Amino acid sequence: MFLWGTATAAYQIEGAADEDGRGASIWDTFARQPGRTRDGHTGDVACDHYHRWPEDLALMSDLGVNAYRFSLSWPRIQPEGSGPVNPKGLDFYDRLVDGLCERGITPLPTLFHWDLPQALEDGGGWLNRDTSHRFADYAATVAERLGDRVRGWITLNEPFVHMVFGYAMGVHAPGHTLMLDALPVAHHQLLGHGLAVGALRAAGAERVLITNNCTPVWAEDAAAGDAYDILHNRLFNDPVLLGSYPDLSAYGVTLDCVREGDLEIISAPLDGLGVNYYNPTRIGAPTDDSLPWTDLGITGYPTTAFGWPVVPDGLRELLVGLRARYGDALPPVYVTENGCSYPELDDQARVDFLDGHLAALRAAQDEGVDVRGYFVWSLLDNFEWAEGYHQRFGLVHVDFPTGRRTPRASYHWYKDFLARQ
Ligand code: NOJ
Repeated sequence: MFLWGTATAAYQIEGAADEDGRGASIWDTFARQPGRTRDGHTGDVACDHYHRWPEDLALMSDLGVNAYRFSLSWPRIQPEGSGPVNPKGLDFYDRLVDGLCERGITPLPTLFHWDLPQALEDGGGWLNRDTSHRFADYAATVAERLGDRVRGWITLNEPFVHMVFGYAMGVHAPGHTLMLDALPVAHHQLLGHGLAVGALRAAGAERVLITNNCTPVWAEDAAAGDAYDILHNRLFNDPVLLGSYPDLSAYGVTLDCVREGDLEIISAPLDGLGVNYYNPTRIGAPTDDSLPWTDLGITGYPTTAFGWPVVPDGLRELLVGLRARYGDALPPVYVTENGCSYPELDDQARVDFLDGHLAALRAAQDEGVDVRGYFVWSLLDNFEWAEGYHQRFGLVHVDFPTGRRTPRASYHWYKDFLARQ
């Protein structure tokens, strides 16, 4: 069965940041610091999904999706990131999973969507190898409780973005500006992924994925394009699918934190690759010696309210490119996020966006790529990280002061589309 769904993430929708024993995450700390997010917005309340989840399930049921990608808040489940589990946190996800199953919606939880327990960050976060082991323990705890009903899992969400925005550039939590010294964050996340795969398999998981943010690279300069592709795409896909890291010599660095046996763990067989696609990246030769490339930006295409270029065929290009690079080492692909920011209720632009990208997905299938799922980001307008509530990605509009949900035109369009599948 092809999975048709919508996607969300815990910190972006749940709210209830201090309720029922939830611990602090790095995003609580970061967003509450002045100047970190636009207008000082935080996820303290967000969409209040923690209380309003029955209404959100009803929206999904009416929409007609057969799958839902959401994330589990590690600090809600294990407040300190290690040690005691918070029963009320697990109970919340237990109810949510039951509600999904009752409605015939396949749950596809992501274990880590950037909200690391603050206590682990205090010990170095993903710079510390121990966090990989803590993540595997957490995965085992969750799988033990939910694994009788949850058969499919995503380990990590976009480890590239978490490393670059969170640890290299400091625009996301935890806010470090380490530039290339952030590289161990890639390896430790991937090691955590591999260890978690083992824990999930032990609990009988049937569909285990990792979600990488991938971009087609439009290179105006071959060497620079290659360098960018290595950092953004191959650094995260190669170890998982091929069991090796790409050569980082263009950056003048080596991954010294890799130990004997790590790559065998990281390349544990997967049932699918989750891919988040938003837009291609146009790369030119470097203009200074900080990095071996320059991001030139894309012009000549329509843009979303976020200013991101709308390039539907980039999805086909990406999927076909993955197949060409990895061949039979590429497992079935799931588009675990695709979507756009537009505020209007009558959002014809989002309808056109989705229509165009779904056509590109079909075209990739026609070219032989085994695609097995598609998830719109997002069900609801939500906390868009450093942009706070200013960027609206929802099929459903949320009035944040009241929490009121109003389906947009694109919701009705997706509903009609799903009814025809
Ligand atoms: C990818 C991230 O996984 C998600 O959290 C974010 O909201 C969307 N991209 C849109 O930026």
